[in-house]
Amino acid sequence: MKTILILAFLSVINIIVCNSQQVNNSNLPQLGKDPVSKIVAAMTLEEKAGLVVGYRAANPASGTQGSTQTTPAPVPAPSLVQGAAGTTFEIKRLGITPMVFADGPAGLRISPTRGNDKNTYYCTAFPVGTLLASTWDPELVSSVGKAMGNEVLEYGVDVILGPGMNIHRNPLCGRNFEYYSEDPLIAGKMGAAMVRGIESQKVGTSLKHFAANNAETNRNSLNTNISERALREIYLEGFRIAIQEGQPWTVMSSYNLINGVYTSESPDLLTNILRKDWGFKGFVMTDWGGGKDPVAQMKAGNDLLMPGNMNQIQAIIKAVKDGTLDVNILNKNVERILNIMLLSPRFKGYAYTNKPDLIGHAKIARQAAAEGMVLLKNTKNVLPFGADIKKIAAFGNTSYEIITGGTGSGDVNKAYSISLVEGLGNDGLSVNQDLMTLYTNYLNLTRAGRTQGRTGGGMRGRRPIEELVLNQDIINGMVNNSDAAIITIGRNSGEGSDRKNVEGDFMLNEYEQQLIKSVSAAFQAKGKKAVVILNIGGVIETASWKDLPDGILLAWQGGQECGNSIADIITGKVNPSGKIATTFPVKYEDVPSAADFPGKEIQTQQPVVPDQQVNSGRSRPAEVTYEEGIYVGYRYYSTFNVKPSYEFGYGLSYTNFTYSNLKLSSANFSNKMTVSVDIKNSGNTAGKEIAELYITAPSVKLDKPALELKGFVKTRLLQPGESQTITFTLDSRSLASFDTSISAWTDDPGKYLVKIGASSQDIRQEASFTLAKELIVKKETVSLTPKVKIIELKPTMQK
Ligand code: BGC
Repeated sequence: MKTILILAFLSVINIIVCNSQQVNNSNLPQLGKDPVSKIVAAMTLEEKAGLVVGYRAANPASGTQGSTQTTPAPVPAPSLVQGAAGTTFEIKRLGITPMVFADGPAGLRISPTRGNDKNTYYCTAFPVGTLLASTWDPELVSSVGKAMGNEVLEYGVDVILGPGMNIHRNPLCGRNFEYYSEDPLIAGKMGAAMVRGIESQKVGTSLKHFAANNAETNRNSLNTNISERALREIYLEGFRIAIQEGQPWTVMSSYNLINGVYTSESPDLLTNILRKDWGFKGFVMTDWGGGKDPVAQMKAGNDLLMPGNMNQIQAIIKAVKDGTLDVNILNKNVERILNIMLLSPRFKGYAYTNKPDLIGHAKIARQAAAEGMVLLKNTKNVLPFGADIKKIAAFGNTSYEIITGGTGSGDVNKAYSISLVEGLGNDGLSVNQDLMTLYTNYLNLTRAGRTQGRTGGGMRGRRPIEELVLNQDIINGMVNNSDAAIITIGRNSGEGSDRKNVEGDFMLNEYEQQLIKSVSAAFQAKGKKAVVILNIGGVIETASWKDLPDGILLAWQGGQECGNSIADIITGKVNPSGKIATTFPVKYEDVPSAADFPGKEIQTQQPVVPDQQVNSGRSRPAEVTYEEGIYVGYRYYSTFNVKPSYEFGYGLSYTNFTYSNLKLSSANFSNKMTVSVDIKNSGNTAGKEIAELYITAPSVKLDKPALELKGFVKTRLLQPGESQTITFTLDSRSLASFDTSISAWTDDPGKYLVKIGASSQDIRQEASFTLAKELIVKKETVSLTPKVKIIELKPTMQK
């Protein structure tokens, strides 16, 4: 049977290839010269089916991508850019060029080397999404996007597979590092800024993973039950903002199901919401191997199936022939792909150089990383280190082997990474050489003994090395010949699996706790200071140990320049201005989704689905119900009075800011209002402040969270004593909640509190306005109705 299928497929491919290889015929319409409708009319059914199914690169340099598929690659695909994730099919006779897609989102992911070619093709590893969101600075994020987009262009790629837009529903999601925030406004604004930056280089982006892909466990089969309100307000809103404000060329549907339907097979999601409600103009591609039914995917508006296989092409041809797929639907899918292809650099014949400005881009990576690191604790201004501190004792493996980003498709093949100790050296500090020798010997020896020690293939990356265990005598010895201590705690995670609420992952393990305790105590006993650096991609537990050190810097995973950026903050070259865009709870059990993350497996006869991308990955039928509804992140903590360890929007600076003079343009709201406030640098060091605007809305028809972020502004660098007046705009949409009973965004009437804060718990200025009567702001299509009854958390209930 398999042989017959393969033969049949090869003949289909043959027809496509033979047709497509024909030399341009002057009688035939040509893409770019003739209207797209004419090109579609001239395409054979086989060509159309060939175009909407990705052309898998039979390319060894692409690592594991596609290699776990059971179907063989049809014909040797051209390796247009080695290590790219996928390509579309070329049809020469009609002037249809291929398009090349490569990951994303922390930088371009291609192969750094190419066979016998002596040149290298490294890309810049920029800071991860979680760090970029902590800058609260869309302009800066755009400049990162511009640099990234330039690498996409100059390496001959057409579309980068990013940015990652999913909400941090739970701190354990293994891919949170790729995503921005628990809040849709931040995620949406950052996503839009990133898209604008990348696409300014005339290359495309793919917003992913649309939508509600908030866990990696059983990612290919997880059915996610969510209310329409939670979907619209939390899980879709960031995508909407990025789509309407960024206009990405493409969107990538996710692996999971929403309310019983694969997202890639959902007309509600891909046609009603994405196109009718939001006006998206580009095309949608699947995640790699996502969904099951290619015909349903075409009908839903999932125009391109990646990375593509022969069964999908055959199924589409058959469905058109037997009338189960209207050819006009297929034509529309093709048309959308061609419309974007017209914009692509490969179609335009751009002569890419393979030589982007890696040095210039590294500078942008360094600056962005420093702007998104968050100072969590700074007792008695331990940081920045003063002139009396010259020699640092650097504890912790990741002081020597920094983690620049997460694993999986979000990893970047970079030329180098700057470790923390190198960064300190570059900024003029010396490190304790004895301690350095202990660590580097240990790391080299352990790694040498573990060359096979990967946790399940390239996509999953290398298993971290256990911390070097130092006894108290060694630690005491270091106190005498060092001026201060740094203790680095590292964590990594990535595609295909989630993190766990265990020691060594969400929690520190016993030795890490011990290290922080004994190093801090030993240094403090001699009047010296100890600072913890968190080199992590997602949230960890901090409450049990944060009292011990003098300072804590959340460095996140800062890309290839991470060590330099940390040193820039430690030495005071940069005054930290990042704030967390995701909550650090006191304990995992406080997280509103703790009890049901990542969902439960269902006992059925359904087969286990192989995961296309992660070796040995399998997805069992599973289900999760988002019972916390809209109460995600700070919306939950603030409404239910659960005190976090570090709240949403929190971050310290080396200076202080005062807030004054809050003014609303009117005491009564009609359709728009402006809110202004003065921010003054009242300390002694130049710095930037992020001001956050929250509202507390009246609850008439719908329950409301105690706080909702509705605006944020980062000031320019303010000199001591300098002030800046910042302005926010509120419109009727920004006040609105989604009323499922009428499928519309509505503003409840009554008194709205406007709260301007330095964090979600540090509100500095407050005022109010009134809305006289209910406003129906925008009607939406009735879509994605849950198939099961979801009993959602309400403020009147206890969790
Ligand atoms: C990931 C996507 C990625 C794609 C191509 C998938 O497994 O989920 O984020 O873009 O592979 O590498």
